[in-house]
Amino acid sequence: MPLIDGKKVAKEIRDAIGREVEQLKAQSGKVPGLATVLVGEDPASAVYVRSKNKICKELGFISLEHILPQDTQEKDLLALVEELNSNEAISGILVQLPLPKHIDSIKILEAIDPAKDVDGFHPVSMGRLMMGTAALAPCTPSGIIEMLDRYDVEIEGKHAVVLGRSNIVGKPVAMLLLHRNATVTICHSRTRDLPEVTRTADILITAVGKPKMVTGEMVKEGAVVIDVGINRVDGKLVGDVAFDEVEPKASLITPVPGGVGPMTIAMLMQNTLKAFKAQPA
Ligand code: GUN
Repeated sequence: MPLIDGKKVAKEIRDAIGREVEQLKAQSGKVPGLATVLVGEDPASAVYVRSKNKICKELGFISLEHILPQDTQEKDLLALVEELNSNEAISGILVQLPLPKHIDSIKILEAIDPAKDVDGFHPVSMGRLMMGTAALAPCTPSGIIEMLDRYDVEIEGKHAVVLGRSNIVGKPVAMLLLHRNATVTICHSRTRDLPEVTRTADILITAVGKPKMVTGEMVKEGAVVIDVGINRVDGKLVGDVAFDEVEPKASLITPVPGGVGPMTIAMLMQNTLKAFKAQPA
């Protein structure tokens, strides 16, 4: 089975972080702190935030949870972000997206201190990512690179094709692959003759949100396939890749669930630890 076991890799990363936190605590009495902010009752967002906080606690981090009502005013959310920016016990701030429509997400993300921007979504973090100097890169993209490295997938010189151009996954993962000397193509809803492009991919990354849109005939024999899609179909989670058709052709493939998902949270914890170490004691 050419499976990439994201669950296993994520656990290894979390275990290493847990050990480092114990040492830091013994040395300084201080530990990293993550604040999560959830506005409204989107069930999927609530599940994500809950698991982020649970893992925080397991690793010995301080975990601060803010759950705000759907009708929260933008100015009140901005005030909370400001308060967390100046809270010395908090190393990282995560405002779960999407936010309700009456709140300007960009304004909120720009209010987060870049030193505490563990999501890597602030324009300063994004700019640094583009320049190759980012300390805190977005979690799903850096989790993908980490998985490729741990499975000894060569990136340099390879053709990486990214499906999807979101700020959260498509654009940042393309930039990280470029910094690792891949030749990168970003495809999107207006790309012409998509199968022709995807068939040239040595590494194919799908972050579209369309169940089973990548079929067997779209994938080259021996390709490495990373499926970022999380789609709920008849109560079951499925990726963007038609797994049964693509798996026999791939040299490595991530399952959904148990592939990219657990890596995102592990990298969030890694970013929180990094932010903690970079902040003044
Ligand atoms: N919504 C979906 N993915 C993410 C993520 O990685 N971070 C935040 N803050 N919100 C999200």
